[in-house]
Amino acid sequence: MKAIVITSFGGPEGLEVVDVPEPVPDRGQVLVAPEAIGVGGVDAVIRRGTLGSYGFTEGHVPGSEVAGVVTAVGADVDPSWIGRRVWAFTGTGGGYVERAVATVEEIHPLPADLAPADAVALGGSGVVAHFGLAHAHLAAGESVLVRGASGSIGTTTVQLAAQQGAGAVAVTTSSPERGERLRELGATHVLDRTARGGPGFDVVIDIVAGPALPDLLDLLNPNGRVVVVGAVGGLPPSDLGSRLMASFQKSLSIATFSSATVPAADRRAVRAAQFAAAARGELRTVIHDVLPLDQAAIAHHRMDAGEVFGRIVLTPGR
Ligand SMILES: NC(=O)c1ccc[n+]([C@@H]2O[C@H](COP(=O)([O-])OP(=O)(O)OC[C@H]3O[C@@H](n4cnc5c(N)ncnc54)[C@H](OP(=O)(O)O)[C@@H]3O)[C@@H](O)[C@H]2O)c1
Repeated sequence: MKAIVITSFGGPEGLEVVDVPEPVPDRGQVLVAPEAIGVGGVDAVIRRGTLGSYGFTEGHVPGSEVAGVVTAVGADVDPSWIGRRVWAFTGTGGGYVERAVATVEEIHPLPADLAPADAVALGGSGVVAHFGLAHAHLAAGESVLVRGASGSIGTTTVQLAAQQGAGAVAVTTSSPERGERLRELGATHVLDRTARGGPGFDVVIDIVAGPALPDLLDLLNPNGRVVVVGAVGGLPPSDLGSRLMASFQKSLSIATFSSATVPAADRRAVRAAQFAAAARGELRTVIHDVLPLDQAAIAHHRMDAGEVFGRIVLTPGR
């Protein structure tokens, strides 16, 4: 079968189409024939080779979520999964392939009227959006800033914050056109990447982090909470703690949130509700483009160029 392999760390040209043996599902695993493969921001970070300390090596197959039909199951897995269309989390890699392996705990049946491309635009990021807002204890009427709102986590967070009755939903983005698209999803204030000029915020959901993270403290109302759910802008500076202490009298908080800390049953329940909402048209998925699997390098070029709004999806084709 075809797989996309990082043959050398660095630019997208290091992604190559390679013939590899089809995997055999082990005990507790299923084999999925993907119809849609999500291209995540973290895939590009791994490709650049900056996560070597986490054990990533050249030869890695990127991609962590696919949607398609179960074609085989390993020992101790109910064979009635075979033939069912599912969303599957493949871990920190293994998604850019014609046959993907996932554990049975990490698959989720798709509603009949939810397209596989929509499932991979929502499956992972919807859970981050939901529990990120919960981690921030967002209450109705409070004002929210979604920093880095144009990706799949942000576009879902904007919708959920609006649906949960936020008083204002501000976003940061790099262009007025993207801002208009975010307004259609529920944003009430569109700010540039500095996030200046908005109201004070009770909650910031930050997908960016990076050098400007401490500046968010100046934008918070008393008792304001920043929850960092991503780091597309890199790590924050080392004076973050002292900047927080300097605003002591405002009782501010900065937290991180990873969906890895959410029990699997809770993730499944939220994903089921979100898939059903998307199938009813009550939660919008944002798909930038659908490309053939062997054009994964082009997808990464577009991500590196900052062109992507929402998510790029790959499809192996038939
Ligand atoms: N917490 C969790 O459990 C969890 C799970 C999965 C992934 N993640 C993390 O989430 C992040 C990816 O999320 P995503 O796919 O939604 O994001 P994304 O699509 O990679 O980026 C979101 C947006 O951020 C803006 N942006 C990019 N670089 C920026 C910079 N240097 N400064 C300011 N804004 C910038 C861009 O929008 P504009 O051009 O419009 O400004 C971009 O479209 C990764 O860090 C990944 O590791 C976290």
